[in-house]
Amino acid sequence: MNPSREDTRVAIVGGGVSGLALATFLHLSGVACVVLERRERAYVEMRQRAGVVEARGVRMFERWGLAERLLGGPVAQSIDYRIDGASHILEMAAEDGSPGRFCTQQMLVNNLLRELVDARAGDVRFGVADVVIRNDGEGRAQVLYTDAGGAHALDCDYVVGCDGNRGVSRAAIPHGVLAKTSHEFGYAWLAALVEAPVAGHPVMGVSDRGFVAQLPRGLQRSRYYLQCALSDTAQDWPDQRLWDEIRLRMGDAAIANVVVHDKEVIPLRSVVHAPMQHRRLFLAGDAAHLVPPTGAKGMNLALYDVDVLGQALVAAVREGDTRALDAYSETVLPRIWRYQEFSAWMTETMHDAGDPAQRGAFRRMTARARLAALFDSPAARRLHGEFQRGTA
Ligand code: FAD
Ligand code: PHB
Repeated sequence: MNPSREDTRVAIVGGGVSGLALATFLHLSGVACVVLERRERAYVEMRQRAGVVEARGVRMFERWGLAERLLGGPVAQSIDYRIDGASHILEMAAEDGSPGRFCTQQMLVNNLLRELVDARAGDVRFGVADVVIRNDGEGRAQVLYTDAGGAHALDCDYVVGCDGNRGVSRAAIPHGVLAKTSHEFGYAWLAALVEAPVAGHPVMGVSDRGFVAQLPRGLQRSRYYLQCALSDTAQDWPDQRLWDEIRLRMGDAAIANVVVHDKEVIPLRSVVHAPMQHRRLFLAGDAAHLVPPTGAKGMNLALYDVDVLGQALVAAVREGDTRALDAYSETVLPRIWRYQEFSAWMTETMHDAGDPAQRGAFRRMTARARLAALFDSPAARRLHGEFQRGTA
């Protein structure tokens, strides 16, 4: 049976944070687009991931006139860097005073869906399968897919791959076009969503038993991260082991066991695939790059790509000016590498300073000296704060 045939300007593969944010911007700018998402809406709404929108992202949503509707929640003021149980509270105020927000990715995605789909009738198609991208350089592009209604073909000017690290978009680029640059840190994080809010400040902790963090997930819940072995699975961490380890690493015997909703193991790695474009196909977010979560940059890099690419697509579609689109990859890559550097610095510092088995006594002491410099020097603190907020 022949597929049904439709036409749009921009086809977006993947309805995570980058696909939905890009579609919202294109919709606001009057550029027709369709989002094709493999999962059902309920699944996308429930998915837990990152937790901080930095100042740059806040300003982008302000430019769109949607910051209050999409973000909200308490503004992050400080992080408690807890070294062997002793607190060092670092103010996170950027010099220009613009704050980031502890807004969970889940909340942002839900608000984007409400704004794009429910309030503005944007076209997001959930539960699609068998996505195939045709981008052979002759004429326009085409995306084939199936859903419960059958097979479909979407003709378009441009395709944007927002389908994460395991999607189909990057794989649609011919072999030899992309270069992959990657680094494995050699350990993972166990991420556990628990039914207790952060009491006081969010914590990033160094201990002899390894890294620990507690970050807010709304007013009722928080997410703990515990450094673990790459080979660990969630089954290796029954609740009692999890809580015993949290108490030891946080240096706080009074932390009570509460309900644990979800556990997953996240390997820490850095990856960049470049160039982030081929003919009429462009990659954004995790489809093009991964950062270890330590620096809280994954979602923020995805939003940065969307900001640059969205404006370039609008100029190409509305004015026929493709210069920014042609330069997309070389425009975004310098910031991506700055964030890679910051994320690697933060990851190595927080892990090397902890478990001495990790990288040996010498690295442990130099990492601790780096942290001490951060706590003691106003200049280093300011630089760190600027970076955390993405303004450096
Ligand atoms: P994603 O959010 O992965 O969205 C991709 C979308 O594409 C998904 O909706 C997926 O269902 C869809 N898709 C995939 N394949 C197809 C297909 N073939 N067809 C159609 N649709 C498809 N960052 C932090 O800063 N802190 C964290 O704690 C943190 N935790 C993380 C935990 C996990 C398990 C992961 C994977 C990432 C985490 N990150 C974290 C990173 C951050 O969440 C990502 O950088 C961010 O989600 C990137 O957004 P994205 O839209 O590019 O990709
Ligand atoms: C998170 O909320 O997932 C998060 C926040 C800050 C970090 C790392 C992760 O530095």
